Amino acid sequence: MPEKRSTEAERELVALARSVLPAGNFGNVSHEIVIAAGRAGRVWDVSGNEYVDYLLGSGPMIVGHAHPEVIEVVHQQLAKGTTFFANNAPGICLAAEITKAVPCAEKVRFVSSGSEADLYAMRLARAYTRRDKILKFEGGYHGMSDYGLMSLAPKRAGNFPQPIPDSAGIPRSVREEILVAPFNDLQTVASLVREHRSELAGILVEPFQRLIAPQPGFLEGLRKITQENGLLLIFDEVVTGFRFAYGGAQAFYGITPDVCTLGKAIGGGFPLAAIAGRADIMAHFDKGAVAEDAFMLQIGTLSGNPVAAAAGLKTLEILRRPGAYAQIFETGRALMAGYSEILKRTRTKARVVGEAPLFDVVFTDREVTDYRSARGDEGAMKRCNALLRERGILKGESKYYVSLAHTAEDVAFTLDQFASSITALKRVAAA
Ligand SMILES: Cc1ncc(COP(=O)(O)O)c(C=O)c1O
Repeated sequence: MPEKRSTEAERELVALARSVLPAGNFGNVSHEIVIAAGRAGRVWDVSGNEYVDYLLGSGPMIVGHAHPEVIEVVHQQLAKGTTFFANNAPGICLAAEITKAVPCAEKVRFVSSGSEADLYAMRLARAYTRRDKILKFEGGYHGMSDYGLMSLAPKRAGNFPQPIPDSAGIPRSVREEILVAPFNDLQTVASLVREHRSELAGILVEPFQRLIAPQPGFLEGLRKITQENGLLLIFDEVVTGFRFAYGGAQAFYGITPDVCTLGKAIGGGFPLAAIAGRADIMAHFDKGAVAEDAFMLQIGTLSGNPVAAAAGLKTLEILRRPGAYAQIFETGRALMAGYSEILKRTRTKARVVGEAPLFDVVFTDREVTDYRSARGDEGAMKRCNALLRERGILKGESKYYVSLAHTAEDVAFTLDQFASSITALKRVAAA
């Protein structure tokens, strides 16, 4: 196991963070590592410890940290100015590339975060249908808005379709506007749509929910139900966009929604996200194209930021190169197969869940099909993540993000450290 150092400099920063930040952090990961640098598939903390990085900035760094070509275009753009609050070439070209790549994307509106994109996508469905309610799935993550933060991670099992707010401070009235169904349960969706048809604007879904793949027919069923009932189908592709395939999960699974949201990869590590969809729906962002009361005012200081757009464009160019996705999938598959073998060999009650570009281990012996079955032994998962961290593997609370920059050496090292972590986990459990 690699020896870990802890320097005075890092300890001082941790103490300073504790004194000036609520909970001592930015609200992202809860551990107390202070990251100093990242390059390709690795990051270093302030004490100089090296990690194979599967956190990847929570996904955006799909071509690896500080990719030289991305850094070069960013430098070029920095010298020309960093924000204009006006159309600029990188932003326009990025929108054009998104329309070429993503099946549902005829028009694109940029914002700065996935949370914003989801908020506007829900509003867009309301503006288009002139109905208020949105159906989402338990465990589905759609950002931090009052509407998005419903039944993301409920601690108790609620009754469908009542949402459980995930945060204090959300007005009670917002609950009236969200219906919640179990992921992969078409029957419940169909009956909720039947019952609430006249009030429902759309269905918002992560086509691959966190770690859970859609069962055969689920996305097709959502497409059919929404079409038959005049609702919008919105795919939240903030994570899956340009990760599962160049065209995102909608290309990967072959189901085209009406609207999707994008983030992470399209900003190349800078704050940039988007709502993309059918032209007649996206027309609600265009004052000249819809009636006055159908227009959606939408403004953001940094929308279409040229530095972020330049980084995003270069990231997409790298992903378009022959063999890029094959390599990401090969790396992910090698990790997943290696992990499964280790879990089997050590008779661990856990399973590897997900797709090659995005997976994790769930400590359960049940099949994982929805939020409730995906929870597993959360304590074991947390302990395993901490053991991995001690061994030089960095990841989020749940999810391994695989990048183009991870090497065969990274995979071999990761598998060794995972085997060692599982052994340590069992030793502690047996003690
Ligand atoms: C599926 C999904 N939607 C939306 C978001 C919110 O994006 P952001 O953190 O950019 O606001 C995330 C963030 O991880 C996400 O995973």
